[in-house]
Amino acid sequence: MKAAVYYETGAPDVLKYEDVADPQCGPGMVLIDVEAISIEGGDTLNRLHGEMATVPHIVGYQCAGTIREVGDGVTDRRVGDRVVATMLWGSHAEKVAVPSVITWPIPSGGDIVKCACVPVAFGTADDCLFEFGHLQAGETVLVQAGAGGVGVAAIQLAKRAGATVLATASSAERLQPLYDLGLDHGIDYSQSGWVDRVRERTGGLGVNLVVDSVGGHVLAGSIACLAYRGRCITVGSAGREEEPLDVRALGMGNQSITGVFLGAEITTPRAQKMIQGLVDDVANGRLEVLVDHTFPLAQAAAAHALIESRQAVGRVVLVP
Ligand SMILES: NC(=O)c1ccc[n+]([C@@H]2O[C@H](COP(=O)([O-])OP(=O)(O)OC[C@H]3O[C@@H](n4cnc5c(N)ncnc54)[C@H](OP(=O)(O)O)[C@@H]3O)[C@@H](O)[C@H]2O)c1
Repeated sequence: MKAAVYYETGAPDVLKYEDVADPQCGPGMVLIDVEAISIEGGDTLNRLHGEMATVPHIVGYQCAGTIREVGDGVTDRRVGDRVVATMLWGSHAEKVAVPSVITWPIPSGGDIVKCACVPVAFGTADDCLFEFGHLQAGETVLVQAGAGGVGVAAIQLAKRAGATVLATASSAERLQPLYDLGLDHGIDYSQSGWVDRVRERTGGLGVNLVVDSVGGHVLAGSIACLAYRGRCITVGSAGREEEPLDVRALGMGNQSITGVFLGAEITTPRAQKMIQGLVDDVANGRLEVLVDHTFPLAQAAAAHALIESRQAVGRVVLVP
């Protein structure tokens, strides 16, 4: 099969389009003909400096397609089923083989490109807001990097739960499409004073919950945006900064910070059901996936470069 591979981590141009061996469908697994690959925030970070399980390495956490083969012991998936799948690595390819437990059926009529973008971003946003963030109707939430994959999901899920939603992005233009998804207040965090802007929009109180997928100096700002008893969720490091966090500021306001990692929960019955509900909601148009661009898999390097230019809003998708 063809795949986008790299022999060393680094800038987008480490990605090459090459022939590699087909993956094998072992017991408990399904082999999928890939039709759409969602480039996740973690994929660009892994390509930049992540571990390489193989050389050459095929990066990528998530894709969707049609099941071509079912391994021994799999009873809940059939050849011909359309599914979205997650994996530790390997999505940037024409075929993937994954345990059936990390696949979710796509309802008939569901757009395969949009559904390819759901489990990691929407499942993570859901866990940040509800399972670990304990968001309640009537509260205020700040979604950092609202134009990213996790951000687009978090804005919609928070809004439909009855929260007032604030979000940041690195320009006013990047915030604009987010208002259609339920954003109440957009804040350009490339401008100094953005923490003050957040506090102003909440009548000086600060927000009840922050979902922070950026880290570094933005995470320090997230804590400064919290209301009394506010909760901060740290879920990623898209800002690519190593800055250590000083948690002492939390003490005076009885505030908390919690880490979230969907991967640690993704095979639990709770997360499985939650993710299937989100796939169904996207397939049926109750939630929206913003697809900024699609590229052929052969142009994976250009697709990664577009994401890192911080011009894309929502997802960039590869099509084999
Ligand atoms: N813990 C988990 O379970 C989990 C699950 C999913 C994702 N994550 C992590 O969450 C983070 C976001 O994931 P995602 O899928 O939402 O990513 P994404 O779609 O690529 O979006 C990342 C966003 O980060 C912002 N950003 C800030 N500084 C940046 C920089 N220096 N370079 C590039 N972008 C920058 C960009 O928006 P602006 O330009 O508007 O700032 C961009 O929209 C990643 O670190 C990912 O690994 C963790």
